[in-house]
Amino acid sequence: MPLANTSSSYGTIAKSFHWITALLVLALWPLGWFANSWPYDTQEAFDTKWLLFSLHKTLGVALFFVALARIGWTLSQPHPHHLGENRVESLAASTIHWLLYGSIIALPITGWIEHAASEGYAPILWPFGQDLPFIPKDVPLAVAFAHMHVALTWVILGAVGFHIAGALKHTVIDRDGTLARMWFSRKAPPTPPEGKSHGALPALLATAVLAVALVFPFVTGEEQSQAPVAAAEVSTEAPTAAETPAEGPIWAVQSGTIGLSIIQMGSAVSGSFPDFTATIAYDPEAPGPQKGTADVTIDIATLTLGSVAAQAQGPDYFDSAQHPTATYSGPIVEGEDGSLTVDGTLTIKGHAASVPLPFTLTIEGDTATASGSTTLDRRTFHVGDNKTDEGSLAFPVEISIEITATR
Ligand code: HEM
Ligand code: HEM
Repeated sequence: MPLANTSSSYGTIAKSFHWITALLVLALWPLGWFANSWPYDTQEAFDTKWLLFSLHKTLGVALFFVALARIGWTLSQPHPHHLGENRVESLAASTIHWLLYGSIIALPITGWIEHAASEGYAPILWPFGQDLPFIPKDVPLAVAFAHMHVALTWVILGAVGFHIAGALKHTVIDRDGTLARMWFSRKAPPTPPEGKSHGALPALLATAVLAVALVFPFVTGEEQSQAPVAAAEVSTEAPTAAETPAEGPIWAVQSGTIGLSIIQMGSAVSGSFPDFTATIAYDPEAPGPQKGTADVTIDIATLTLGSVAAQAQGPDYFDSAQHPTATYSGPIVEGEDGSLTVDGTLTIKGHAASVPLPFTLTIEGDTATASGSTTLDRRTFHVGDNKTDEGSLAFPVEISIEITATR
């Protein structure tokens, strides 16, 4: 079998490139999709998500170099003419071929830039490529390229669908040997008809489709393109870390309370932390389950808690002299039923633990009201360790939030 192409046949090198590319694309698509939709609510699930993303990126970078080599080789070779006389069909086939070539370059580039602009994410397993020249660590940049990457995944899916349908039509209906000439068969390929070339038209059509896909997410999601975005580092250790960075408009907290309720000697005592700062980025249109991030710092010394507020500041409880602030931060995640949860990590007195906070959100114009509550076990944070019996101070503590923020 000859290595190089002729005007009627593909050589072994072009065929090998074709099928290696096809295998990689057919593996990368589901891998990307599974990685993105994999849950990360437990450490085990998080580790699996991490691994899926690392494999996805590693194979994606490999595909990028295979695609470059393939395109270089194709440009140096004669191109077998389309089999069949139908001009519309040959135009469609060439346009799809251009689209496929464009996508196998644009998809890895957008994915790679998103990765390089993000911090603390599943690494590429090659010994290079975590960072890219001229690409700063910048959340809005990462988000923009994530949008483009996701839009392109639909372009390549459609293109591959039409491409395979075309190959099947040639094989089952036309029976003209199109598939056989891309396969490693020894049979001499048929001689293609002398057709007039479509000139630059297929390349232009494919470029237009790619351009629309790259611009589309920004036209439809106006907030995404205009909004300033919070910089958020996603921890590489916490089980609540997510692949998608904080994105979307910043919501400035106008008023609100973080309340807590304890059971002391069998009766409920309620109080609140009036003084806290919060950075909330939220974009309901963000791709994937993560819609933003919340980052809250609470001033412990401002706690009101009935008659026991002063006692609660003591070393056995919040120890505000040593630990004046508590923090709570994590991604805002939308469940399959549309419910919202901050998958946050709460840190009190240096003890960090995952405390998911489900909440409801009402947005009217540029004002959002969020309210939610959750229950935690005070022992996780070593608050009141000397009160080992629930009779004097119950273990569960209810936390509630009521926040009004403007865009
Ligand atoms: C999934 C990723 C795939 C990609 C990115 C891809 C890409 C391409 C490209 C760019 C060409 C044009 C080659 C050239 O002439 O320069 C081509 C040709 C071809 N592909 Fe694919 N392909 C894929 C999958 C498949 C599959 C699954 C099949 C079979 C069912 C297939 C069958 C063919 C055939 C038969 C040709 C030759 C068409 C002709 O001779 O006119 N491809 N492919
Ligand atoms: C042809 C190659 C590639 C294909 C077909 C592909 C496909 C996909 C798919 C289907 C998704 C899931 C999108 C969703 O469900 O919303 C995805 C997500 C992702 N891919 Fe790729 N990918 C490719 C290359 C790469 C490369 C080379 C990298 C990085 C080095 C990469 C990084 C990512 C990232 C970070 C995401 C998550 C996007 C987000 O933040 O929403 N991909 N990819």
